[in-house]
Amino acid sequence: MSMDRRPDDMVRITTPELADAFIAEQIDALRAQIGDKKVLLALSGGVDSSVVAAMLIKAVGDQLVCVHVNHGLLRKGEPEQVIEVFRNQMKANLIYVDATDRFLDKLAGVTDPETKRKIIGGEFIEVFAEEARKLDGIEFLAQGTIWPDILESEAGIKAHHNAGGLPEDMQFELVEPVKILFKDEVRVVGERLGLPAGMVYRQPFPGPGLGVRCPGAITRDRLEAVRESDAILREEFAKNGLEGKVWQYFTVVPDFKSTGVKDGKRTFDWPCIIRAINTTDVMEVTVEHLSDELIDHLVSRIISEVPGINRVLFDYTPKPPATVEYE
Ligand code: XMP
Repeated sequence: MSMDRRPDDMVRITTPELADAFIAEQIDALRAQIGDKKVLLALSGGVDSSVVAAMLIKAVGDQLVCVHVNHGLLRKGEPEQVIEVFRNQMKANLIYVDATDRFLDKLAGVTDPETKRKIIGGEFIEVFAEEARKLDGIEFLAQGTIWPDILESEAGIKAHHNAGGLPEDMQFELVEPVKILFKDEVRVVGERLGLPAGMVYRQPFPGPGLGVRCPGAITRDRLEAVRESDAILREEFAKNGLEGKVWQYFTVVPDFKSTGVKDGKRTFDWPCIIRAINTTDVMEVTVEHLSDELIDHLVSRIISEVPGINRVLFDYTPKPPATVEYE
């Protein structure tokens, strides 16, 4: 059976050999737990759920059913990558749900940050539960719970974000194959399971996605401006050797406009704010200072390639007093 707690003397998984041993052990445990039954997994494309998916595909193949819900607030290329890696390369049983319209319709006109988060979280559970109800014979629910989640929920810092949420009539036994691992160990294990480095070492991304980077009421055009500018920022960070070096970097497009001029004509468009930060514990955060050349290049690309943007700003504020995200 799988282990419930991380043994005090467990060696930190830092090498391919240690990862391989962990994977072999977990595969045996998963097969013993699941037998010939079916397992359901909400696959966001984040590190933890992706590693759990890869592990379960190895252990029980198409007894695993993955559901990828696109809430319309994902980064450019993310749903495509999930489909490519899991359906095309790993041959997973993957249900892809494009719920963009449903989420954006519910969010239309909603300005309060907490209400936005609640709508996104609640709608996600509803879509996932609807998909689950369409399936027959699911007995297990897999989750990407990791050891810090358990420690934090025991310490009362945050509610165990995974377990809860599904309607009461939906009772599944939990399968949590990485729950005794720290994040860095999950990444090493993910690499050994054959996941692309870009997926395993990706920067943190909040559950409500680009929704918190489109402050105030989300509109499709401003959301696209966030998505496109974020894609340019990520591309330039990768080209300039900053990917994997800077903890988190993204763009925000606030809901106000300023005057500009383009091709001799007056414009009235949004600014785009760049945020790039470093941290170890996310409680305190410092700002990554970019070179003047890179800033100039980013400004030039964003204003010429992203419709609706006529100004680019850089956020020099540490945490505290500012939080990482804007909402
Ligand atoms: P803040 O804005 O609180 O963010 O300084 C700290 C870190 O947490 C991430 N973050 C979230 N992650 N769901 C998540 O999974 C969320 O609702 C959420 N809000 C913030 C944020 O990106 C940063 O890394």
